[in-house]
Amino acid sequence: MKVISNSISIDGKWMSVKPHHKTIVDVAKDNGIGIPAPCYLQGRKHGCCNGCVILIADEEKYACTIKPRNGLEIVFNTPDLKELRKERFRLYKEPLKVAKN
Ligand code: FES
Repeated sequence: MKVISNSISIDGKWMSVKPHHKTIVDVAKDNGIGIPAPCYLQGRKHGCCNGCVILIADEEKYACTIKPRNGLEIVFNTPDLKELRKERFRLYKEPLKVAKN
């Protein structure tokens, strides 16, 4: 395991945290990992879509609300998390469908 100073790992891959990285979503994006984060990337209130769900120490967290800290180990790409994201996006979009009718 290669740990770089001021770095986080996502699914076992260590990556540097830069001063412009405000959240885990930013670090992931700069390293080619697309954490789905519509409310964050569209400038909406963070934490409202629940799509950027990740695990830190086996606890569910939202990547758009977590500041990257040195040594943080994040789990992102698992079948269970993919399924959870799919369900959360479905629920997130549901009110939009109702509002359009
Ligand atoms: S981007 Fe919507 S909860 Fe994180």
